[in-house]
Amino acid sequence: MAKVKICETVLRDSHQSLIATRMTTEEMLPVLKQMDEIGYHAIEAWGGATFDSCLRFLNEDPWERLRKIRAEVKNTKLQMLFRGQNILGYRHYADDVVEYFVQKSIANGIDILRIFDALNDPRNLETAIKATKKEGGHVQVAISYTTGETYTPEYYVDYTRQLVNIGADSICIKDMAGLLKPFDAEILVKAIKKDFPDLPLELHTHYTSGLASMTAIKAIEAGVDIIDTAMSPMAMGTSQPPTEPLVAALQGTPYDTGLDLDKLNVISKYFTTLREKYLASGLMTPKVLKVDVNALLYQVPGGMLSNLISQLQQQGKLDKLTECLEEVPRVRKDAGNPPLVTPSSQIVGTQAVLNVLTGERYKMVTKEFKGLVRGEYGQTAVPIDPEFQKKILKDEKPITCRPADLLKPELEDLRKKVAPYAEQEEDVLSYALFETVATKFFDQRKAAKLNLDADNADKEQKIHTV
Ligand code: CO
Repeated sequence: MAKVKICETVLRDSHQSLIATRMTTEEMLPVLKQMDEIGYHAIEAWGGATFDSCLRFLNEDPWERLRKIRAEVKNTKLQMLFRGQNILGYRHYADDVVEYFVQKSIANGIDILRIFDALNDPRNLETAIKATKKEGGHVQVAISYTTGETYTPEYYVDYTRQLVNIGADSICIKDMAGLLKPFDAEILVKAIKKDFPDLPLELHTHYTSGLASMTAIKAIEAGVDIIDTAMSPMAMGTSQPPTEPLVAALQGTPYDTGLDLDKLNVISKYFTTLREKYLASGLMTPKVLKVDVNALLYQVPGGMLSNLISQLQQQGKLDKLTECLEEVPRVRKDAGNPPLVTPSSQIVGTQAVLNVLTGERYKMVTKEFKGLVRGEYGQTAVPIDPEFQKKILKDEKPITCRPADLLKPELEDLRKKVAPYAEQEEDVLSYALFETVATKFFDQRKAAKLNLDADNADKEQKIHTV
């Protein structure tokens, strides 16, 4: 029996899920050398919302973060989360931007690209997969897991087959909402392993609904190869299941991870101090640490739930929360039953809130929801009812081709626009994804440099006068 491998998420998903992606590079650096000695299969350290958060909230260059992490983590593979044709943004980008982003991610230190599409439309993954192969990276494709009509084990096995055919080196079951139940995980893992016994299979889940550790054990028994976990001070709640208890649970069994609990404990102590700091500052709230069964009742991921609450709070309509939660599955069904993950979770969530607050369903329709119904994000697993489509689109025609085929190359034009700010080749990519926040970051970076120069000149002056 093969040993189970561990992918550690504390530097990416764990803090994205618990503290709105606010862990800084400075907070990560002191513990990286020790993490590198653990023997993890991989450390998930970049991508997802970290890129946006670096630029928007932390005044950090995400590329610089990656290079700093890579300089400390010399032996362990670094993994990132990549949203297919959306890259790390919220819309589809032209192929040349996707290709260049992949190239620069690998050049700056990423080994494994975990690529997924919210709608499980393989056409949205093709460009990123090809580019990763070309640059010599490992392509892991993550299946967006959800439940309901169409989403049978056969559906996931069939999707896996399509992904293998277009170049996936490994597969991850990505259960972003914590919906995957232990015995369903057993059935699903066995079904995929039956047809693809040699294809590495990973499980990514969230503790949100309280199932994650149980689900991990059943998936392991069924033959899953790699489990995503987070160091215990940054685990559970909306984050991943904790690393240390899983390592302990598997010790002395055929699935033994071989990881050393004493070494892990040193790292755990480091993150305990950070956790206390986050709790004291209010960055971490007890709200995200408890078991939340709403995920099981409404298929709403943790992040989506907090978005819904804040949208309703802003309008003073928090009393409508249950009504909105009940509207979510109905809107989801109308939109072709997509998995709820960025960006479909925000699109469906916002539309559900509008449907409830305006008092009439689809009286107001967001641009994004219209785009989803039109096929701008790709093909949904369940075809959208043509009548509903007509009601939403009016005279506009739905699109059926690969959405990115409608996009012209963007890179040349972006290079011209970013030229006044650029200090490194990667800046054009930051600009492409988050034009406004990137520009602000570039201005601040320049101002900080000028200040530093002024400081140094000042110091020199003082030395001379002494
Ligand atoms: Co996740």
